[in-house]
Amino acid sequence: MAEENNNKQAVVSKPSAPGKPKSPAAKPATAKPSPAKKGVYKPAEVRAEADPFRDTKTGTVESWMQERFHILNPVIDYLKKKEVPKHRLSLWYYFGGLTLFFFSIQIITGLLLLLYYRPTEAEAFARFVYIQTEVPFGWLIRQVHAWSANLMVLMACIHMFSTFFTKAYRTPRELIWVSGFVLLILTLGFGFTGYLLPWNELAYFATQIGTEVPKVVPGGEFLVRVLRGGEEVGGETLTRMFAMHVVLLPGLVLLFLSAHLFLVQVLGASSPIGYREAGLIRGYEKFFPDFIVKDGIAWLIGFALLIYLAIVFPWEIGVKADPLAAAPDGIKPEWYFWAQFQLLKDLKFEGGELLAIIIFTIGAIVWVLVPFMDRKASREEKSPLFTIMGLLFLAFMIIGTFRVYLEYGW
Ligand code: HEM
Repeated sequence: MAEENNNKQAVVSKPSAPGKPKSPAAKPATAKPSPAKKGVYKPAEVRAEADPFRDTKTGTVESWMQERFHILNPVIDYLKKKEVPKHRLSLWYYFGGLTLFFFSIQIITGLLLLLYYRPTEAEAFARFVYIQTEVPFGWLIRQVHAWSANLMVLMACIHMFSTFFTKAYRTPRELIWVSGFVLLILTLGFGFTGYLLPWNELAYFATQIGTEVPKVVPGGEFLVRVLRGGEEVGGETLTRMFAMHVVLLPGLVLLFLSAHLFLVQVLGASSPIGYREAGLIRGYEKFFPDFIVKDGIAWLIGFALLIYLAIVFPWEIGVKADPLAAAPDGIKPEWYFWAQFQLLKDLKFEGGELLAIIIFTIGAIVWVLVPFMDRKASREEKSPLFTIMGLLFLAFMIIGTFRVYLEYGW
């Protein structure tokens, strides 16, 4: 009978968070068991017998979920406890979530486009025309996919610079920064590989120029052949870009995104250096449900902007690529490569391209290693040298982008 009582009590007990062992002895043996919530998994510390589901009756959704996912209980407890600091720079906390939102849009609209797209030299362009003109709402899906790609890159850049200037990368968040950097490279990879898929003239020649860049590096010829699937950009290149765009890159993004978000959840949101000490933190809000609701509002605004842009400023399909035709004037890459493109143009002398690649590579290595170099920030001290470095990098990107815009237009 005593054992039966024990069992009943065990059935109503919820598993406790790690570090907070809940002993059955803590409750008086005479305590009247509350109305039994049947079928709830019994953690080891509150059950007498070996079978964690002995008395389980799967009647409710909660008990069904508990039986299968009880291992996630500490995670849910943790999320309920997680808090986000409130201060005058809180606005920047929304941009990581917005990047995530536009990425989700890309997955959904990308899958829908896949239903009609065919990645061959003969069919690709015609399928895009078909999606745009014949498939019900195909035009909208294509426009949303194209605009959301641009917004995702923009949001990722704003997110990166905001976490840089608030020094959110400092100890112990170094790996959030590193995984974020990889995500940015992968996001740019999405843009580069997706650009060729409509197989139009502009994309064809831009890819021709883009895939040529590694040629100047020792061993780069090999990389160019791997990217193109031959000596020139052609049907093989299209197949490769397609495979990277829909299989390789999404897989890698999901991997690094999981690591990025896991670390963000575990380590929580950082506050700007010195804010806590100076009393500039205006309290904390619960991540769930308060912050997540505000995140949702930001997503709704992002969605409204996306639909507006897709309808009012549609992207053109252009004319079908003709590999035998001469390259038209004004070939340029997507706007997020303009700064790099401008540097390549500025260094148009013998060995200039190699110099540009060396500058990019060293710049990228320094940028990804910033959290490990900025020791002052990790000691919660201001680090103006790194702020200046970030400002110079931002200025390089904005000025380069603007110069290409002035020369070529949008
Ligand atoms: C696909 C791209 C990315 C996605 C979906 C993403 C998503 C997120 C989300 C949802 C957060 C938590 C909310 C926030 O602080 O905004 C976050 C935090 C963070 N991300 Fe990203 N991120 C991406 C790219 C990047 C990049 C490119 C960097 C920098 C190189 C970066 C560095 C960080 C850092 C340091 C934090 C912690 C912020 C803090 O603790 O205050 N992320 N990211």
